[in-house]
Amino acid sequence: MLDTTALNQQRNFFDGHTEIWLFGYGSLIWKADFAYIERRPAFITGWERRFWQGSHDHRGTLESPGRVATLIPAEGAVCHGMAYRITPEVLAPLDIREKNGYLREKVPLTFTDVSSETPEQSEGLIYLASEDNPAFLGDAPLDEIAQQIANAHGPSGPNRDYLVNLAKALRELGAKDAHIFALEQQLSRF
Ligand code: SIN
Repeated sequence: MLDTTALNQQRNFFDGHTEIWLFGYGSLIWKADFAYIERRPAFITGWERRFWQGSHDHRGTLESPGRVATLIPAEGAVCHGMAYRITPEVLAPLDIREKNGYLREKVPLTFTDVSSETPEQSEGLIYLASEDNPAFLGDAPLDEIAQQIANAHGPSGPNRDYLVNLAKALRELGAKDAHIFALEQQLSRF
């Protein structure tokens, strides 16, 4: 299995910074099992959330991978999530958590908990699983993706919980995401 931990340790986009904004768009929205100073709802542009990344280590196994979220470039798209202000030491355990294909990337993010007349922006860090990583599964008919999620289980628990928790967290954020909500609806059939 691929392990991006060592690669990520060289991706020091925020070298010398004492604090970093980490933007979560998948499990990092609803499973914040790391220390953070503050969290704020935010969005990034030019990316769409998709369940196109295989999970062999958290929500599936090598034999029966699950499907988890990644981002696909899409002009004009808005992807809502949660930004966490963290210290750089927090990245080491996150690199391990995200080791199955995700690489640190630097992106501009916009906070949504401020008035729209004064949008507040910052550079932030995301973990991105791009289509050239070996665990990338890509697109499939929505009912097949939902069926795979319904059947997969891994060391972190049922794959189903990942999708249900993400959809719930997005609703709480008031975020629109047609792919996630359609997938959640399909999942309820299995
Ligand atoms: C993220 O949540 O931002 C990265 C992907 C994941 O861990 O689900």
